[in-house]
Amino acid sequence: MKRRIFATTALPYANGSFHIGHIMEYIQADIWVRFQRMQGHEVHFVCADDAHGAPIMLKAEAEGIAPQELVARIGAERPKYLQGFHIAFDNWHTTDSPENVELSQDIYRKLKAAGLVYAKPVEQFYDPVKGMFLADRYLKGDCPRCGAKDQYGDACEACGSVYAPTDLKHPYSTLSGATPVLKTSEHYFFKLSDARCVEFLKKWISEPGRLQPQVANKAKEWLEGNGDKALGDWDISRDAPYFGIPIPDAPGKYFYVWLDAPIGYLASFKNYCAKQGIDFEQFLTDKNTEQVHFIGKDIIYFHTLFWPAMLHFAGKPYKDPDNIFVHGFINVSGEKMSKSRGTGIDPLRYLSLGMNPEWLRYYIAAKLNSSVEDLDFNPDDFLARVNSDLVGKYVNIASRCAAFVTRRFEGQLASELPRYFGVGIDPAGLIARLQIASPEIARLYETREYGKALRLIMDFADAANRYIDEARPWDVAKDSHRSEDLQKICTAGLKLFHILTLYLKPVLPALAERVERFLNVAPLSWNFGQDLLNHRINKYEHLLNRVEEKQLDALFEIEKEPAKVTSST
Ligand code: MSP
Ligand code: ZN
Repeated sequence: MKRRIFATTALPYANGSFHIGHIMEYIQADIWVRFQRMQGHEVHFVCADDAHGAPIMLKAEAEGIAPQELVARIGAERPKYLQGFHIAFDNWHTTDSPENVELSQDIYRKLKAAGLVYAKPVEQFYDPVKGMFLADRYLKGDCPRCGAKDQYGDACEACGSVYAPTDLKHPYSTLSGATPVLKTSEHYFFKLSDARCVEFLKKWISEPGRLQPQVANKAKEWLEGNGDKALGDWDISRDAPYFGIPIPDAPGKYFYVWLDAPIGYLASFKNYCAKQGIDFEQFLTDKNTEQVHFIGKDIIYFHTLFWPAMLHFAGKPYKDPDNIFVHGFINVSGEKMSKSRGTGIDPLRYLSLGMNPEWLRYYIAAKLNSSVEDLDFNPDDFLARVNSDLVGKYVNIASRCAAFVTRRFEGQLASELPRYFGVGIDPAGLIARLQIASPEIARLYETREYGKALRLIMDFADAANRYIDEARPWDVAKDSHRSEDLQKICTAGLKLFHILTLYLKPVLPALAERVERFLNVAPLSWNFGQDLLNHRINKYEHLLNRVEEKQLDALFEIEKEPAKVTSST
């Protein structure tokens, strides 16, 4: 049956450029989406900038510009990265949009009507100089236990004790240096502790196949608490000045950014539906529609508790999310990414050095599985996997067979496969085994076990090369009586290459397109529709370069000189 899927990745904060962690998430999701489309399913894949919140407001203020201007500037550089790494979102929008205002206010009103919103006064630190309430991260002071200076409002880095911001001695605002004062203001809360919410979430979380086991366990722990600390209600309002969406009938109050951020998934989708002539409400209410979100492990809390509860109790046309697919973090050479220490990989620098985006797609895919474990970008490992697997095994099959076909047979392939005489690898048998692996490879893509999928595919690439080693087309070519044999051997090699390309296409879409041109076949989808027997192919053009060590050296140079621009396929 044809599936209808609405897929998203987490909305990146609009106060900074993409880093390799964002690109990794997009690559993971993009592979899954491309795979689903190759299966013939309908997939709508959207994202947006997460524009609201205090950090963006303050950063814009520091630059002397309006927050909208900052968001627009960051938004304008997104396509370079996305196109650069072949990430094919159908739509990129922003949470600072009319669609998001409308949807956020609508969801809020519906939750309120369901009796799940209430107001209560909250006492909080206030910066009298800036004229704003201070989130904990903008507060520092002396530790109430050990007296260490300049500790944050929640915990002491010196003695490890945990406390409330109001316990700090000599507190000060990191924004102005002023001594904060306690001030009371009315806040709005979403009643997550309501029995209806708890009951719904218990069921939603434990639905088989919905969440990865580690993720479901975490969510359950939060939901049930460890004895004393059951789930609290969620403070969804912030006082002006705040860059956000106004709360209806509550002058001077705005939605906390984490309320309107996930709604931004729907806002982007709605914006896209209008452009595409899709009926937004009908799509969401269709019982066959699947809604899936790819996110990193740091934002599980919001996506497995608040988000499903908000959607569920807002009611129609909103639907409960079907899956939250969580990935771990990418580290570089075993180190957590940190811009200040200069580690990490700048995605644009990668591209400007002429490094092929599909090397990175392949490498990341090879390291990915369905767990929440972190993965490591290791330069030596990257070079080895790309050069020996991708180029050395897969591309090698085509380059070993293609030249003969072009030079000797004007691109014409044989009408049958080589006969098998019972020694070594039977090419027809190998082709059959490769075809029979299709459901298993599909299952691995479906379950985001990309590393296993690629290993299986590369095992077949190994076998294909062994076949060519045994058949020795370069020797056969020297014998003028064995012209037909030569044509058949190369045909078998290219048939294997054809099927391997199909399996690799979700990971290597641009390379697959070049192969389609070279093999002179229609765009590959997940079937073996087109046979290559008796088929005429185009001239072989070089498909993929090897990674050079000096490129990796340049990528990791700490003093970032402007990167030299070179080009490569
Ligand atoms: N704006 C929120 C998400 C709102 S979703 C309604 C946010 N933004 S973020 O820019 O900090 O992160 C965006 C995504 O990138 C998240 O899924 C996050 O987990 C992911 N990553 C951030 N650093 C990462 C790595 N080092 N590795 C992999 N993914 C990482 O959170
Ligand atoms: Zn201390």
